[in-house]
Amino acid sequence: MFRIQRALPEGYSDAAPEELARRIAAAKAALGSRLLVLGHHYQRDEVMRFADARGDSFGLSRMAADRHDAQYVVFCGVHFMAESADILTGPGQQVILPDLNAGCSMADMADVDAVEEAWESLARVTDVERLVPVTYMNSSAALKAFVGRRGGAVCTSANAAAVLRWALGPGAGASTRGDKVLFFPDQHLGRNTGFALGYTASDMAVWDPRQELGALDEATIKGASLLLWKGHCSVHQRFRPEHVTAFRAEHPEGIVLVHPECAHEVAAMADGVGSTDRIIQAVGGAPPGSTIGVATEIHLVKRLGDENPDKTVVSLDPLVCPCSTMFRIDAAHLCWVLESLLRGEVVNRIVVDDDTARWARVALQRMLAIT
Ligand code: 13P
Ligand code: SF4
Repeated sequence: MFRIQRALPEGYSDAAPEELARRIAAAKAALGSRLLVLGHHYQRDEVMRFADARGDSFGLSRMAADRHDAQYVVFCGVHFMAESADILTGPGQQVILPDLNAGCSMADMADVDAVEEAWESLARVTDVERLVPVTYMNSSAALKAFVGRRGGAVCTSANAAAVLRWALGPGAGASTRGDKVLFFPDQHLGRNTGFALGYTASDMAVWDPRQELGALDEATIKGASLLLWKGHCSVHQRFRPEHVTAFRAEHPEGIVLVHPECAHEVAAMADGVGSTDRIIQAVGGAPPGSTIGVATEIHLVKRLGDENPDKTVVSLDPLVCPCSTMFRIDAAHLCWVLESLLRGEVVNRIVVDDDTARWARVALQRMLAIT
């Protein structure tokens, strides 16, 4: 998705780290309880040190909604997270993303126009009344609204199994809610969850939005329980089975924890598969002295190592890169949005229009009712 972040005014990009830190602290103190700074687990330390709360994408949105006194919510994360926060917060709250170009390449892989087209194609070969759309939290507000309008729900990596069980489980009367699910944007989360629920490879098919009829034939579509949108996370898809093999060869007693956005071949070799929060809990609960290989974003892995000095926490891929869009949020952008607020100027506000917000909220509330 195309977004434009204007260049920062003078005095930010070239300011020394200590000066930025001092100015951010001063702006926070002046704004007091009118300001809430949220930090996603993948943020850099220079930003995270100023977060009033840390968390995963959904947890942070809920915190924003619970803090009614916070007029300004500065969301240090990516665009879809700020949109979710705007949907869940009240009318007196304004959500700000310090760099508008902090998107999510995975969320951008399921553009709502492409999803509408896919739905129309599917309607020609299957009964879409029996097709339940489920979208991962990592998706635009427009896609969440699409799902809300068509009887589906949002899921997170922590509750995807419960949401899929709901979608394919008992519905009204004697029938199930749906015969199949269209799951987007992350094929890996969909596949890992499908396997965990007992579905087999032949129950799942990948829908390629760039190909006619998703590059599938009619029989495959009719026979599949899960149609998985061909999207992925460029950070998590880098982890390969060879990384697990190499880690286990070096640390035979080591523990392997992976995020469900990793490919199934990797997840199948792990000791634990879980969302960001579950990984944090698993590292915290591991016995002192453990060596833990983690397959997720590198800033979280490093922080887990720093905060668990009695354990050794390493990235499963020694060459892993950070999430490049999360990395766009830095101390200079944080300082700029805060000092703008001090001058009475709200920059980089994220606003979801009322109709989109209403239907996206329906999809989010269904998730909450299920889990
Ligand atoms: P969480 O939902 O755990 O915050 O993860 C978001 C994300 O972007 C994972 O890559
Ligand atoms: Fe998106 Fe992957 Fe970055 Fe998460 S880690 S924000 S899914 S690109």
